[in-house]
Amino acid sequence: MSGLNLAVLVSGNGSNLQALIDAASQGRINGRIAAVISDRKDAYALQRANNHGIEAIALDKREFAGKAAFDAELSKQFRSRNIDLIVLAGFLSILPTEITKEYEGKIINIHPSLIPAFCGKGFYGEKVHKAVIEHGAKMSGATVHFVDEGTDTGPIILQQSVEVAEGETPETLAAKVLVIEHQLIVKAAALFCEGRILLDGKKVIIL
Ligand code: GAR
Repeated sequence: MSGLNLAVLVSGNGSNLQALIDAASQGRINGRIAAVISDRKDAYALQRANNHGIEAIALDKREFAGKAAFDAELSKQFRSRNIDLIVLAGFLSILPTEITKEYEGKIINIHPSLIPAFCGKGFYGEKVHKAVIEHGAKMSGATVHFVDEGTDTGPIILQQSVEVAEGETPETLAAKVLVIEHQLIVKAAALFCEGRILLDGKKVIIL
């Protein structure tokens, strides 16, 4: 299969990664997942990559001299594989400016809320859904956006909403949002690989 080289960065279960693996193997994305990189050795996502013969790389932060050394290793991994698109699929480390600049317009992230609500530093995973429910929001959703030097501040590519039902718990809301995350992340990766995402300043135009 031809197409672009993708690196998928993960920290946990990897259900979004699985959606990408399935889509790529079914030819719904014109690209191949060249590597799955985790910042946690015990991430189940690594197992998912192994199950599909995809190179799985575990970079344990504690084994690096510091954040700069960890970031340098990430850069090395991207460069050595000629990575065209970096997908953050539940990756909980923050990428340094050197990487966000070098790969500007080539890094996408999935976030489990409707940005700019319930995002930024400290808002990840379950914490997002808990905050949505505590706030009494009636709608939530998922967002795929380009990554810039801020946290969840880059141009929005795709969004979809879900209703926050009466009696919703963080667990039930997370499950609901994950269903649409899987669709959005695959759609965004597919559009990117077809060259159909145009960046116009802060705005994204889908061709
Ligand atoms: C997903 O809900 C993703 O949106 C979220 O982590 C979860 C990972 O699930 N990411 C963030 O909160 C980033 N700010 P997965 O490992 O099953 O794909």
